[in-house]
Amino acid sequence: MSEEMKALEARCALCGNCPLGATRTRLVFGVGTAPSELMLIGEGPGEQEDLQGEPFVGPAGKLLDDMLEMIGLKRSQIYIANTVKCRPPMNRDPAEEEMTACRPWLDEQIRLVRPKIIVCLGRIAAGELIKKDFRITREHGQWFEKDGVRYMAVYHPSALLRDVSKRPETFADLRELRRVLRRDTTLYEQ
Ligand code: URA
Repeated sequence: MSEEMKALEARCALCGNCPLGATRTRLVFGVGTAPSELMLIGEGPGEQEDLQGEPFVGPAGKLLDDMLEMIGLKRSQIYIANTVKCRPPMNRDPAEEEMTACRPWLDEQIRLVRPKIIVCLGRIAAGELIKKDFRITREHGQWFEKDGVRYMAVYHPSALLRDVSKRPETFADLRELRRVLRRDTTLYEQ
């Protein structure tokens, strides 16, 4: 991890932009490689993430690792973060104001990762990063472009754990992602 990213994390640990810092156990800043051509962005830390200080290490994280493996990637090759860095109590969705308060950290992470492609994990991240009122059921798997970065949203791994009927559509989205990653990135040459 770059020195700059470490310094950013150290500053983020002291953040008081919203009330979530007061109730969290650990900061869940991000994990992986920076720079990286692919960045994944989830919603916010859950119970296990809050205890371990790393994104996607609970049951949803296990499924995320399987999803990455399906397209021949490992989490160490990419960068993974969340829209909020501190766990919302009782696993509730992060509030709009909390995401806004946390956004400067995410923007700095994106600047340091310099991804060509950002995959939003679930509706909340897609609503924050792609467009307000993102319709995950209709718009998952579609490409969007903003400021020279391509975005796709897929169902959140937690949604796939709750509702296995969404999995085939997600496999199709992941195959589309792999096709574009093969064509436009060097991730499969590493
Ligand atoms: N769900 C998320 O959105 N992020 C995590 O880090 C874990 C679960």
